[in-house]
Amino acid sequence: MRKAGIALIGYGTIGTGVIEILQDNKETIQKRTGLDIELKYVVDKDWTTPRRVEIQSAKKISDYKEALNDPGVEIVVELVGGTGFAYTLLEESLKSGKSVVTANKALLAEKGAALFDLARQQGKTIAFEASVCGGIPIIRTIADALAGDVIQSIYGIVNGTTNYILTKMAEENLDFESALKQAQKLGFAEADPTLDINGYDAAHKAAILAGLAFNTPVDYQKVYAEGIIGIDSVDIQNAEDLGYVVKLLAIAKRYPDHTFEVRVNPALVSRDNQLSFVRNEFNAILLESTFLGNSMYYGRGAGSRPTATAVVADIIDIARSLEGSAQKSAYVPFQNLSMKNIGETQNRYYVRFNVMDKPGVLSKISGIFGNHNISIASVVQKERSATDYVPLIMTTHSALEKNMVLALDEIEKLDFCRKRGVMMRIIE
Ligand code: HSE
Repeated sequence: MRKAGIALIGYGTIGTGVIEILQDNKETIQKRTGLDIELKYVVDKDWTTPRRVEIQSAKKISDYKEALNDPGVEIVVELVGGTGFAYTLLEESLKSGKSVVTANKALLAEKGAALFDLARQQGKTIAFEASVCGGIPIIRTIADALAGDVIQSIYGIVNGTTNYILTKMAEENLDFESALKQAQKLGFAEADPTLDINGYDAAHKAAILAGLAFNTPVDYQKVYAEGIIGIDSVDIQNAEDLGYVVKLLAIAKRYPDHTFEVRVNPALVSRDNQLSFVRNEFNAILLESTFLGNSMYYGRGAGSRPTATAVVADIIDIARSLEGSAQKSAYVPFQNLSMKNIGETQNRYYVRFNVMDKPGVLSKISGIFGNHNISIASVVQKERSATDYVPLIMTTHSALEKNMVLALDEIEKLDFCRKRGVMMRIIE
């Protein structure tokens, strides 16, 4: 099996998640890709702070140069953040003939152009899925899935911290400071949360997305960034009354005259717009492209495990392109799982019976449900109308479908029931 040696620099929040996936899913990744992704080195200066995940077999070192000097390392994963040492690391890695995976949005937005030039000269890759919206595969969507389309505009909620703050201010009347403290506790705020609340984190992401979508250099210094500092909850409530939700939006649009705009600002989003439903720390991006039309991408934009999925996807992508890699097809049926019959599935149910309005009907029906291990969640019966039969509407808690069918079979045979009950599944 083709081996691909990895050096991971930065045993922090995301690094821990990457190590977890590479270790826990090693066998699955091997079977799916035909690649043995070998985590050879983890580099960090701090080897005393306890982490969520222990390193199993990689060498723990403090000097990244040791990893760069190893010809067995083909991919360097930069998870240190910042634009100083991280720049040097990427530069030296590319010059040493390694491809690079990074989650570093500030680095790419502010100094990416020179690094991408260097990567092109070296014939190496810089993969950066994790730099924008954590676990949402938005970079691949723009770069691969829509490579044949033309993106006209991007509207994104790309910062989880500010979306969390705005949601809590709107829905729970929390003040700005307490909402920010909660967001920090939950671990998706930047180390320096002013980057979140002044819109700079979103501006970094907007710059990367615009450059990728419009195939143009974007001067990050010129990206307009207005954050949510100073937003008054009165205006959030007023917006609600008018049918809008306040969101911090990253916006990029191209125009027919070869101009484009990139900016970040709080905005009133209509409740008819899908972006208005994106709550708490979740992120979403709405793309408008010529051929596909509108498409939306939603998920977790921060956090150790979600962001790590994007880093690992980049590692696998680069490893797949290495000479001599094995599995080229996406569909690899290495498991033989057996498919459940509909009767074996679990669902909540809505049922409607037409029954005679007389004593004992409800107890008989609920008894049958009970005998089949179906728990009733609600019952509504309309008052007697002109007919002898009345609609009896029930919802249930989660139950086995075959039990529900047996219960309906039994109820249908009862003389007070006009015909078989109508049944629909409830999806929460
Ligand atoms: N601080 C960022 C956020 C983390 O809140 O979305 C992910 O880039």
